[in-house]
Amino acid sequence: MPQQTGLYGSFNRFLERHLPSGLYKRALIILIAPVVLLQTLMVGIILERYYDNVTRVLGRSMARQASFLIDQYEAAGRAPAAFAELQRSAKRRLRVDVQMFEGQGLPAQAPLPFYAIFEQRLLQSVDDETGRNFWIDSNAEGGKVEIRVELEPQRIISFKFSADRVRWSDTQLIVSVLLGSSLLFLSIAMVFLRNQIRPIVDLARAATDFGMGRATGSFRPRGATEVKRAGQAFVDMRDRIERHVEQRTTMLAGVSHDLRTILTRFKLELAVLGDNPKIHPLKEDVDEMQHMLEDYMAFVKGDGGEEAMPVSIPELVSATVDTVERERPDSDAVISIGDLPTEQVSVKPNAFRRLLANLLSNAVRYGHEIQISGLIEGRKLVLRVDDNGPGIPADQREDVFRPFVRLDNARNLDETGTGLGLAIARDIAQAHGGEITLEDSALGGLRAVVSVPI
Ligand SMILES: Nc1ncnc2c1ncn2[C@@H]1O[C@H](COP(=O)(O)OP(=O)(O)OP(=O)(O)O)[C@@H](O)[C@H]1O
Ligand SMILES: [Mg+2]
Repeated sequence: MPQQTGLYGSFNRFLERHLPSGLYKRALIILIAPVVLLQTLMVGIILERYYDNVTRVLGRSMARQASFLIDQYEAAGRAPAAFAELQRSAKRRLRVDVQMFEGQGLPAQAPLPFYAIFEQRLLQSVDDETGRNFWIDSNAEGGKVEIRVELEPQRIISFKFSADRVRWSDTQLIVSVLLGSSLLFLSIAMVFLRNQIRPIVDLARAATDFGMGRATGSFRPRGATEVKRAGQAFVDMRDRIERHVEQRTTMLAGVSHDLRTILTRFKLELAVLGDNPKIHPLKEDVDEMQHMLEDYMAFVKGDGGEEAMPVSIPELVSATVDTVERERPDSDAVISIGDLPTEQVSVKPNAFRRLLANLLSNAVRYGHEIQISGLIEGRKLVLRVDDNGPGIPADQREDVFRPFVRLDNARNLDETGTGLGLAIARDIAQAHGGEITLEDSALGGLRAVVSVPI
């Protein structure tokens, strides 16, 4: 894919780097983040406007009441009787406690933090309305708001407004309703989203399983139209491939049956001829032909649609070692089995045994000391076949996997062989979703490493 340039490209790369990798989480972020941001912004703006209005009105109303009461008191000529009357009616009609402090000044005004919007509004309003020296305390005892105004030096009048007039308890209600409903809708959205994404996850799993040669029969296309279409395309493709493999296998079964029949006839006719030294080469040729035929068959047949099932690796390995040793009774090679994973691992047993047998027969053919070991590495089964033979030069390690490729060392040995062993082995490893690589062995020869996901 060409690298995208410009702002859009770098934005995409930024998202690619910082978004979580799973589709579900990504979809959640992409769908929900804008909604949450928008909601937060809206709530912020609404609350700000609302709070702004409320504090302005409250502050002004308190300031006006205070200045009205001062005016009343002064109109009555500051008479003590008038003050007592004022005190009473302020308490009764306005719920304001009025007090007079003689012989003391105003306390120092504490500095206001920037978020104390109400107090700032109140300061401004009291200043505007009274035009005198004053002091406010928005958190006086009993949660009241107190305003003290200097009538003249050493004569202070104090007004205490009860708290419920300034505390704005709606905020909590609004915020919790918003938060609660957001959480509710968010959970509903998450459930829906999960249901939409599940078919995609199923499809990915089915495709991976099919790639690894596991059964995918239970997969059904479902979900949104596009996802369903992708699922259907996968099912069609899988069926086509399976049909193709099946046709190939049936055709080969036919051919192999026919050829084997002729070969058996050959053998019978040779047996009738008795133990004549003249026909020994002929017998060997017939044997070799049979061997080759079996190899070709195995190659084109692949795993023949074998199902993967859990097997015990140590059992599988020792069975294979037995077969290989039986096939070459006159070989002096020693096969030793090292550490092997004891867990059950899901593989196609016959195909996997064939893979191992091919690697082992190579090792036995070219080396004397052979070692098999294995382990589970993360989610992979790794098996190693080491030998002390001549090895394969690094630049030829890819070539030998090609069908019918045999190196000089094999030809010089004058061994029979078709050059299909490694090609078949790699085919089988890949049918399991894995791979075979060749390396240098600590024993001095070749190390073949099979790794298949489990
Ligand atoms: N363990 C080994 N040590 C040295 N060379 C090897 C080893 N394994 C394979 N080779 C080389 O790689 C070639 C290809 O191996 P491959 O198993 O595909 O074919 P083959 O063994 O010659 O024949 P076949 O396995 O079909 O009977 C061999 O001919 C040989 O030259
Ligand atoms: Mg071989």
